[in-house]
Amino acid sequence: MPLLEFNKVSKNFGSIEALRDVSFGIDEGEMVFVTGPSGAGKTTLLKLLIREIRPSAGEIVFDGKSVGKLKRRDIPKLRQKIGVVFQDFKLLPEKTVSENCDIALAISKTPKIEWAARVEHVLDLVGLSERSELFPSQLAGGEIQRAALARALVVNPSIIFADEPTGNLDWETAEEVIKLLKKIHEEGKTVIVTTHHKKIIKEFKARILELRKGEVEKDTKE
Ligand SMILES: Nc1ncnc2c1ncn2[C@@H]1O[C@H](COP(=O)(O)OP(=O)(O)O)[C@@H](O)[C@H]1O
Ligand SMILES: [Mg+2]
Repeated sequence: MPLLEFNKVSKNFGSIEALRDVSFGIDEGEMVFVTGPSGAGKTTLLKLLIREIRPSAGEIVFDGKSVGKLKRRDIPKLRQKIGVVFQDFKLLPEKTVSENCDIALAISKTPKIEWAARVEHVLDLVGLSERSELFPSQLAGGEIQRAALARALVVNPSIIFADEPTGNLDWETAEEVIKLLKKIHEEGKTVIVTTHHKKIIKEFKARILELRKGEVEKDTKE
């Protein structure tokens, strides 16, 4: 059984069809690029996965459970298994890089005794060990993105979902961020990355799921 499955999922916002009859499965340990122009429905996939919104039709199954049918009290548990890197980072500006990671650990109720080692490990992984005591405003664009990734990883989620992580970055910095996501995938993590920049993913070998106007246009796995 795949780790994540979208089964004939549609999502309407009033008369807007953000997704129409979308089906795909993602296995544990897979890396998938979700592409498609702005408005194609990429962020809607993420919002459905973390149950920020529910599908108008169809079903999303994650880790053996139907996401749309989860009880409200089970939603935090779902979200702990999904490490999200948001388009706009959502790092807390008044906290340092390492404190931002601590907050994720506190929310996930990780025992405090594990915090220091976990934070050290993820900051080393994303190459920010030397910047752990800096605030987000003191970091360069690519570093902010890596800090957001560290915060997502620190609670050891089963899947990483990075939504347009290369959005405002120059080419080389964007390439570095994708390389890092690839490295995380190679260490065994399931990784989903959305981007509207096809050029970015051309040089990386991974499955590509292409959306267009809310429909799956192409899936290189099939
Ligand atoms: N809350 C909402 N209300 C109305 N329309 C929305 C809402 N969220 C997304 N949409 C619409 O759904 C479509 C897909 O949006 P989105 O998933 O954000 O696309 P992408 O991330 O690929 O750029 C767009 O046409 C967008 O305007
Ligand atoms: Mg988007």
